[in-house]
Amino acid sequence: MSKTNHTALLSWVEKLTELCQPSKVHWCDGSEAENDILCEEMVQAGTFTRLNPAKRPNSFLCRSDPRDVARVEDRTFICSADESGAGPMNNWADPDQMHRTLDGLFEGCMRGRTMYVIPFSMGPIGSPISHIGVEVTDSAYVVVNMRIMTRIGDKVLETLGDDGFFVPCLHSVGMPLAEGQEDVAWPCNPENRYIVHFPEERSIFSYGSGYGGNALLGKKCLALRIASCMARDEGWLAEHMLILGVESPKGEKTYVTAAFPSACGKTNFAMLIPPAEMEGWKISTVGDDIAWIKPGKDGRLYAINPEAGFFGVAPGTSYETNPNAMDSMLSNAIFTNVALTDDGDVWWEEMSDEAPAHLIDWLGNDWTPDCGRVAAHPNSRFTAPAGQCPTIDPAWEDPKGVPISAFIFGGRRMHDVPLVFQSYNWNHGVYVGATMGSEMTAAAEGTMGALRSDPMAMLPFCGYHMGDYLGHWLRLGKSLPAPPRVFHVNWFRKNDEGKFLWPGYGQNMRVLKWIVERSLDCGGAQESPIGWVPRYTDVDLRGLDFSEEQWNELMALDKKRLSLQTLDHEALFLKLYDRLPKELIVERQAMVSRL
Ligand code: OXD
Ligand code: MN
Repeated sequence: MSKTNHTALLSWVEKLTELCQPSKVHWCDGSEAENDILCEEMVQAGTFTRLNPAKRPNSFLCRSDPRDVARVEDRTFICSADESGAGPMNNWADPDQMHRTLDGLFEGCMRGRTMYVIPFSMGPIGSPISHIGVEVTDSAYVVVNMRIMTRIGDKVLETLGDDGFFVPCLHSVGMPLAEGQEDVAWPCNPENRYIVHFPEERSIFSYGSGYGGNALLGKKCLALRIASCMARDEGWLAEHMLILGVESPKGEKTYVTAAFPSACGKTNFAMLIPPAEMEGWKISTVGDDIAWIKPGKDGRLYAINPEAGFFGVAPGTSYETNPNAMDSMLSNAIFTNVALTDDGDVWWEEMSDEAPAHLIDWLGNDWTPDCGRVAAHPNSRFTAPAGQCPTIDPAWEDPKGVPISAFIFGGRRMHDVPLVFQSYNWNHGVYVGATMGSEMTAAAEGTMGALRSDPMAMLPFCGYHMGDYLGHWLRLGKSLPAPPRVFHVNWFRKNDEGKFLWPGYGQNMRVLKWIVERSLDCGGAQESPIGWVPRYTDVDLRGLDFSEEQWNELMALDKKRLSLQTLDHEALFLKLYDRLPKELIVERQAMVSRL
């Protein structure tokens, strides 16, 4: 039963019911009782395994179809009215033709299944920075994940009222059931996947996959691809950024955002624990993946985390690397494609130094440490409520958002790129963000290890032409009386023997402290061809056994190699040529002459 008089919403759902022909329609109220029923149904169906309640209360393991394990960028489309609107970095398809294709695919696609209607809010309900979406899906897995990742249910319908704006999101696993046909644990349609965005219509359609960003449509599809178009039109920013607070021993709080490509440790950075020697410094977490940032009346930028949960990469997460993430998932969590222990708990690579002697791996097979296979899929995930994070910031649900003092860009770069530098000004900062890149990981399908240029970590997530997007950043900065300072970091530099030059994790607090000081215009630095850089004495290295030689190796600039890298920037700029803002060509010239 629907609890809304929203005419447009009711008629949309009615139209979809006719098109998709589900056997049942269920309007999600978002209650715990509803969640319990859905989880129990999935346990009965073999989709979920209930974890040992003594170890991990109210938590479940799910194994996907091995063909459906990551976002599919080559099946992701931006169907803007004309091709140039999507730009050279997106797959474009003609919107009319795509609508015909989708109509064909969705016709009867929910036969034998329940159609769930999920009203959801991205951002605290009622915040002026938040937006509402409604996802219609035939996957109960999507419902229970959306309940953690966003705010769903009746309270969202109330806020939507009778005529509020919502982003319509239609999702199907693409596997209708014929009369009497038995279901599988993870229905999907890997041969026929479509993740489609209509930026002008502000609508989203997803078919054939049940996994992560392909199916939880509030995350990458709405909060980044569609929201980036809304932000362009309305003068704000929708970014692939974590948000964190830094509190000094004097109690001063500074908020920064940071953009890293997928699986570069954003969640770890958002929850970092300062080293013991930096007594009095505290980090708090506002978000680990996405930031919506709007100019306030006072001329500052204010950010909210549009999400309500973490959908983090499991492998590599441990009490050593990220105790706060580990504590966030102690209960009420969903684990997808990790391994199951003999006592009904979960395990993944690097969770502990020693692997358990026996596991059931992510494919459901027996696993032993010497079997030569990984136990968890490299892109296996935990879904956990953000409110359970011990470092969650007291203002994380403040409808006003938190004021941002610095933007940080970074990638996974083994060579050449020093630990940290600060851009000379906003335009230079946009150049730094535009030309960032990373060595590929498993969050998306692709070649592991290859360097991919990833402007502002938005390459797979910008819903319009990347040249226009960079122009939007430049314009926004111009409109601010004192734009935030812009930095670049790289935790991943290695020496010739392949050893990391910087210890990373909690020690990144030392870099963050320098960033905060610089954004408050009080830290020391010297000029270099790439920007302001900290000297050995400018960074608080108390208690860390780190020599000046080590520091110099970590910060070394090889002008010849850096010059060569500007050739990669040239390749990016050529791709964007017709819409590349002139300011960025000027920045590139200035950089080349400094080198
Ligand atoms: C993610 C990503 O956050 O792929 O899952 O960026
Ligand atoms: Mn991400």
